[in-house]
Amino acid sequence: MQYTIANKAKASFDDVYNARTPHAYLAKMAGLGYRIGDHATPFFSRAINHARRSNGPQGSPTILDVGCSYGIGSALVLHQTNYDSLSAFFTSEESESVDACIARATEWLAQRRSQPDVKCIGLDQAKNAVAFAKAVGLVEQGIAKNLEAGDTLSTEETASIQQCNLLFSTGVIGYVGPKTLAPVLAQLGKATPENVGPLIVTTILRMFDPRPIMTCFQEHGFRFERLSHRPLPQRNFESPEEQQQTLAILKQRGIATDELEDNGQLYADIYVGARKADFVEFTAALIA
Ligand SMILES: C[S@@+](CC[C@H](N)C(=O)[O-])C[C@H]1O[C@@H](n2cnc3c(N)ncnc32)[C@H](O)[C@@H]1O
Repeated sequence: MQYTIANKAKASFDDVYNARTPHAYLAKMAGLGYRIGDHATPFFSRAINHARRSNGPQGSPTILDVGCSYGIGSALVLHQTNYDSLSAFFTSEESESVDACIARATEWLAQRRSQPDVKCIGLDQAKNAVAFAKAVGLVEQGIAKNLEAGDTLSTEETASIQQCNLLFSTGVIGYVGPKTLAPVLAQLGKATPENVGPLIVTTILRMFDPRPIMTCFQEHGFRFERLSHRPLPQRNFESPEEQQQTLAILKQRGIATDELEDNGQLYADIYVGARKADFVEFTAALIA
């Protein structure tokens, strides 16, 4: 994996990624001011609207959320929620069993569903998190695989990815790279070649070198570029050491950090991708 050095500098949260409910994940992220999904949501919403406008009722938007965790992307983009309301709900959610928690969360989310015509399929290595996302209806299908570690996609999973005309991701590139993206991009949107798409919006922390990711998208026929936009804050540094090591990596790559990482937060750029013929119109729609 290309990102070994940057991942060593970055704090590890593996212990909260795969619990049976999102309580610990959301509490940990709230403590760090993790907000990247909130900041990325307007771009995801514009991408959905662009897909709807371009493809009409026949091409109903279907998202592949890469690194979906507990269904966070679907919760933020397809429901009237944000990290604060999710954290508040799960902080107050005191069910004594996982089944009761799932029942309460399912009801709470159903009341907040805002885009019923959009489907979401979630991919994440964390089996329990993906199972939760599926159980509460945040994802239509969960793909609990670690493609970085050599897992492969089943026939059913491949068919689901072929239905997806949108790929969204926050907070995950770096954990995943071309080993995950290559088999996904080989299938993405293949079921609807006549439609505009697939359309991609993903955030990439500035500490990760984007070039292997860009090459992977280009090799699969996409134009894939950084969106001209101020970087989005991802979360506070977990420790002074994490900040120092991140600043050293950025400095080594010649990236200026004043007004950004110097002030105590990790920042991500927004990257967008589309087929060459669709790219200019798509990026214009995202900036609107
Ligand atoms: C910081 S969380 C981001 C979750 C969500 N997208 C968000 O922004 O709230 C990182 C996620 O990446 C997932 N992840 C880490 N390594 C992975 C891999 N090799 N394949 C798929 N998912 C992975 C973790 O399980 C975790 O859910």
